Parts: sequence; structure tokens; C-alpha cells
Amino acid sequence: MPKCTINGKEVEVKEGSSIIEAMQVSGDRIAHYCWHPGLSVAGVCRLCVVEIEGNPRVQIACNTMVTEGMKINNTSEKVKDTVKWGLDFHLINHPLDCPICDQAGECGLQDQYMEYGKYDPEMAEAKVKKHKVVDLGPTVVLDSERCILCSRCVRFTEEVSKTNELGLFNRGDRTEIGTHDGMPLDNNYSLNTVDICPVGALTSKDFRFRQRVWYLKDGDSVCNGCSTGCNIKVYYNKEGLFRIKPVYNEKVNGHWMCDSGRNAYKFVNREARLLKGVARGVEMAPGAAAKNANEVLKNTAGDAIALVLTAQYTLEEYEAIIKTFVEEFKTKKVFFWINNKETFDSFDGLLSRGDKNPNTKGLLKVMEKHGITATWNDLSAGLANGSIKTVVVAGPENQVVFPEYAERLKELSKAQNLIWMQSGKNEALSALTGNVWIIPMKTFVEKDGTFINYSGLEQKIKKVTTVVSEALTLTEAALLLAGKNLAMPMTAPFMPTNQRPDQVELEHRKKNEFVFRRGSL
Ligand code: SF4
Ligand code: SF4
Ligand code: FES
Repeated sequence: MPKCTINGKEVEVKEGSSIIEAMQVSGDRIAHYCWHPGLSVAGVCRLCVVEIEGNPRVQIACNTMVTEGMKINNTSEKVKDTVKWGLDFHLINHPLDCPICDQAGECGLQDQYMEYGKYDPEMAEAKVKKHKVVDLGPTVVLDSERCILCSRCVRFTEEVSKTNELGLFNRGDRTEIGTHDGMPLDNNYSLNTVDICPVGALTSKDFRFRQRVWYLKDGDSVCNGCSTGCNIKVYYNKEGLFRIKPVYNEKVNGHWMCDSGRNAYKFVNREARLLKGVARGVEMAPGAAAKNANEVLKNTAGDAIALVLTAQYTLEEYEAIIKTFVEEFKTKKVFFWINNKETFDSFDGLLSRGDKNPNTKGLLKVMEKHGITATWNDLSAGLANGSIKTVVVAGPENQVVFPEYAERLKELSKAQNLIWMQSGKNEALSALTGNVWIIPMKTFVEKDGTFINYSGLEQKIKKVTTVVSEALTLTEAALLLAGKNLAMPMTAPFMPTNQRPDQVELEHRKKNEFVFRRGSL
């Protein structure tokens, strides 16, 4: 492992490290645009300059390897001056868009100008006008004038998604990013290009102009879109969730995540959520509806009760609910509702898996622990011959990935009593009448717990925020279904739609709303 000195500090780095990687290790800051740890080295922005002892000319740090005993600095006047004029070149044709640019607040160009630039511009030429609002495909919009031609997005489509939609066209200061003829930027990883664009040139159609980033807070979680379990950051404020971005985890997702996973925030927001509990047609608070269902469960305990579980809940929740059914209600009729069976084991070769659940392994582990062996055929037979009278379902959080939802609902609603727990609205479910209980549930960003991904890796999730405060976790629902009490309001009538009972309780609302922690470039 070679040792080098960076700005007077001795650092030991891995064999084959570049100077910019060594500076990450030493914690020294360095200007850079085109280098990204997940992509090949392009060396095009020329900002990451350093001085190396014994070398008369400054060098770029991203494309120079560390050798034993190398003495490097990036704090000399010569380096500072070179970076300053490098930035001046980058900004020559850059529009003064900051007030209306979606990247403002997390823009690499703004950040680096404030840190390394602050020069008096000497350009007298008019700026080159380029294309604005270029529709690159279903998810991304390009503003060519803001692009600093770092080529990160092009390298991403070449090296990571391997879809090759993007290229650099024309020469000199007429160069622009674009898509090859007739080929839109359209792949399930396209929004990673927006994350890695260091300026506001690539923006997400879904997010742009919806919030200024400084009005958002963020919290870490794990994507529940499939069994890969990509690490994510969720961005939210009092109006709900606005976007999801990947967080680096070498063991799981590296730097990336898929576009489908980014949509997970949509089903968490209030407009998509079940807010009221229902017990035999009467609306009530979610907790009250769960408690109300205890009577029917007590009366049908034993083999007449079936529990149907989707794999979108946490390990701790499965333990609580399965234990309750096995020990309190004396039934081992617990069934795993597998969605999209035909594509369940598929994999796109990068991250996205056909098993669209975050915790299949966790569910199977708890079922095994309790000696559950029942199959879906047993359930269908029990429903057909009437031996199963009461069915309790922990339905999907993300209904979009359960294409057979309507069919299953139809099958399960043949039971005399149907107790259905899930977080999202569903018209067909709400239209059911008779002995039906509907219990609104919390989503993955509203609770703590553990997911086990496809490879058996256990990942903890922490509550990020609360969107529907009265909704239940499966653990809370298990207690109430068993007739026990919970220290939470259960009897309050459902609130009128113009009021939000969680308005004052939300943790994040007590804090400064304008705090925003910046991600790294
Ligand atoms: S669009 Fe963004 S990521 Fe792509 S080359 Fe331009 S600045 Fe770099
Ligand atoms: S690959 Fe799976 S876990 Fe990762 S972001 Fe996509 S849906 Fe989420
Ligand atoms: S980061 Fe080294 S040249 Fe761009």
C-alpha cells in the first residue's frame, strides 16, 4: 500500500489509487466535475489540479496514480489560480439561471464557484446560445446551456445502464449532449443521470419545479420496490414526500437505483392513502377498526381463520402477527401471497429483481420458525368448501407491483369475514360491503424494522417521517386484533377532510423547516 503526503499529511492508500481517491481518504477537498467514483475517468473538466513535488506543471488528480513517497498539494497559489481560471472557462457560456434552476441549492457549479472561483469575469464575448428544455425521453429534460460537458451522463449510459442513448455532438463551444437519432433516453436507470449531473442541465420531469430543495428534509431508508433493497434517501416536508435518491452502499446498490424504485414515494403520500378504518360499513379510526375485528376473530379462532401476508412488511411485524395467530388464535393457516409469479425470479442484470418485495426472505424465515407449511391451494380449497370463514390480509403497500390484486381480492372476499389491512386506497376494496373490516397501515418510511434482501442481507429501516399518524404498523394491528390495548388514540372519530390531525404531532414539523443537508457531488 503506497504512502503519499497530501497537503503536508501522510496518507496510506490502496494500490492503484488515483490522487483524487487519495484525497477522499485524507479528507482534503478538491474541485472536480467529471470524476465520479462509479464511472470511468474522463479527465475532461481539468478542475482537479494538484502540484506534485518535482513536477514543474500542475497535473489532474483524477487521472494521476499515487506512487510511493509522492508529495502532493492543492492549496498553493498556483493551484488556486489554475482552478479559478478553469472555472471561468466553465462559466463562459453558462446562463445566469440560478434563480429559476432546479439545481439551485445543490448545484456543483454554484458550490465550486463559491469555494474556488469568485473571480472578476474578463469575457467580453456574448454567450453561445444552446438548446433549452430538450425532451430527452419520458423521465429527463435537458437544458443544454447549463451543461458543462463533463460527460458523466454519457459515460453512465455507456458503462452502467449499457443503453448508449446519450452522446456528445458538435465541436468546441458548440458541443452539446443529446440522444442518438430516434433513440430517447428511456431505460429503468435513466434518473441516475440526473443525480450525477453536477449542474442543473439534466432535470427529472417528475421532480422539477415541484419544490426548492432547501424546503426539503431528508432521511435514510431502504427501497421497498424489489428484493434488492437499494439504500435510499427520502426527501420530504410537511406536504409529503417529493423524491427518492440512491445512497451509496457497496454491498447492495453501489451508487445507483432504478427508476421504478424512485416512484415508491408516491404511494406513501396522503392522497394515495387509506385514512379511515371501516368496520362492517362504519367508519372509525384505524385502531378502533382493528379492535372491533377482535370479536369475530375470537369467535372463529382455530382452523377457520386464515392469515394472508404479502412480503412488504418488516421482520418484526411478521414475528408479531404470526405469533399472534399461532398462539392466540390457534391457527397455522398462514399464506404467502406471491405477486407476479411468472417473473418472480427474474433479474435485469443490474439491480432490479422480479420479486417486487423488500422482505420475502424475512417473511419466509418467520413462517419457517413457526412451522408454517400451508400452501395457497389449501387456502383456495378452504374458501371453496367453507371451512375457512375469516380471512385476515396484510395487503400490499405498493399495489402497482401486484397486478393480480383485483383477482385476489375477489377470491379472498368469498370468506364470511374479511379483515383487510393495507396503506393505500383501492376502489374495489372500499366498495366491499358486509362483514368487511378495512384497517389503514403505515408505510415503510413511517416505522422502524428490518428487511432481509434477496441475498440474505439484513438491513434496518428507521422511521423517516409520519404521513398518516393514526395508521397502524402490523405489530400494533396484531395487538389490537388480539383484543389488547395500545397506548394510542383509537376511539377518536374520523377527522373531517379539511383537518389534519397529525399536523402538530409530526416530528419534523417541530424543527426548522428550512434545514437541508447537501448530498455530495
Ligand atoms: S448534462 Fe450534466 S452530466 Fe451530462 S455532460 Fe452535461 S453537465 Fe455533465
Ligand atoms: S432495484 Fe429494487 S430495491 Fe433497487 S431501487 Fe429498484 S426497486 Fe428499489
Ligand atoms: S475531475 Fe479530474 S479532470 Fe475532471
